[in-house]
Amino acid sequence: MKTLTTLSASTTLLALALLVGCGKSDSNSNPQNASSSGGATGKVKIGFIVKQPEEPWFQLEWKFAQQAADDNKFELVKIGAVDGEKALAAIDNLAAQKAQGFVICTPDTKLGPAIAAKAKAANLKLLTVDDQFLGADGKPMANVHHLGISARNIGRMVGKALDAEMKKRGWSAADTALCVMTFDELDTARERTDGAIEAITEAGFAKEKVFKAAQKTSDVPGSFDAANILLTQNPGVKHWLLCGMNDSGVMGAVRAMEGRGIAAENVAGIGINGSDDCISEFKKTKPTGFFASVLLSARRHGEETSVMMFKWVKDGVEPPMATYTDGVLITRETYEKILKEQGL
Ligand code: GLA
Repeated sequence: MKTLTTLSASTTLLALALLVGCGKSDSNSNPQNASSSGGATGKVKIGFIVKQPEEPWFQLEWKFAQQAADDNKFELVKIGAVDGEKALAAIDNLAAQKAQGFVICTPDTKLGPAIAAKAKAANLKLLTVDDQFLGADGKPMANVHHLGISARNIGRMVGKALDAEMKKRGWSAADTALCVMTFDELDTARERTDGAIEAITEAGFAKEKVFKAAQKTSDVPGSFDAANILLTQNPGVKHWLLCGMNDSGVMGAVRAMEGRGIAAENVAGIGINGSDDCISEFKKTKPTGFFASVLLSARRHGEETSVMMFKWVKDGVEPPMATYTDGVLITRETYEKILKEQGL
């Protein structure tokens, strides 16, 4: 699976490099010409690099970024970079094809200083999305423009919603535990799960009934494996509340619980993202343990970041240093209405 992803990412890069090669010779041969893709001479070109191109969240970001590119007539180069090496190579690639800036959700936040230095050396404007860079001191790099979610608040929403659902279902404190799928090496992930724990314990949930399972990778298999270990260690729990850093984190744990024969009505899992994988879960005729999600604004993360970068390059309008977005809770019952209201 990993090899496949890596393979397809490198294939994409290769294809991109070839494409770029063609485009470059065209414009070099007649620099006065307007580009064949519809824009004027000197068309703005920006990159959009994401860490997990196969995750529905990033597909959505790209979709909205592409819409922004089509509407504003700039060129968007989408690159999947699943590790640090690929992220750095992607920047070289963008510089070689004379892009003027890029938006990035890095595969590794600790690469922040290296990416920022590379961008500066290549004279590329830089905006991070989703995952904020960490400096050499381990602190968020406040000097790099960033758009991300209000992670702690969104985590708190999850915690409150779990508490409300437990009460609604009439689950007793003695029979219920909270399974938290964590990925603490990523700040935005840790803030989300810490926020959820904070809110539910404030509401009276016992700290001793909070069980954390650390994911090795932030995808469904990573969550599935970590949840299985936790379930082996805690066999006697009747009702499980469940949360994690995103939908994949919760999805893997829901699958692990199903695999162990825990009935869906004994599981209340709440994810974060609200993208396609979550919607497919809601569409299943029989409810699963994936009960709800916090719908984030992939449109803002994809479109707004690209437009910010476009205006920065084209008109010199610098984006705000930090922008934080919020979310709204969706369930099987409410998602259709809410998605419609949001024009999705
Ligand atoms: C992280 C997660 C994504 C998504 C974004 C939202 O990058 O990996 O799934 O939740 O944050 O900003």
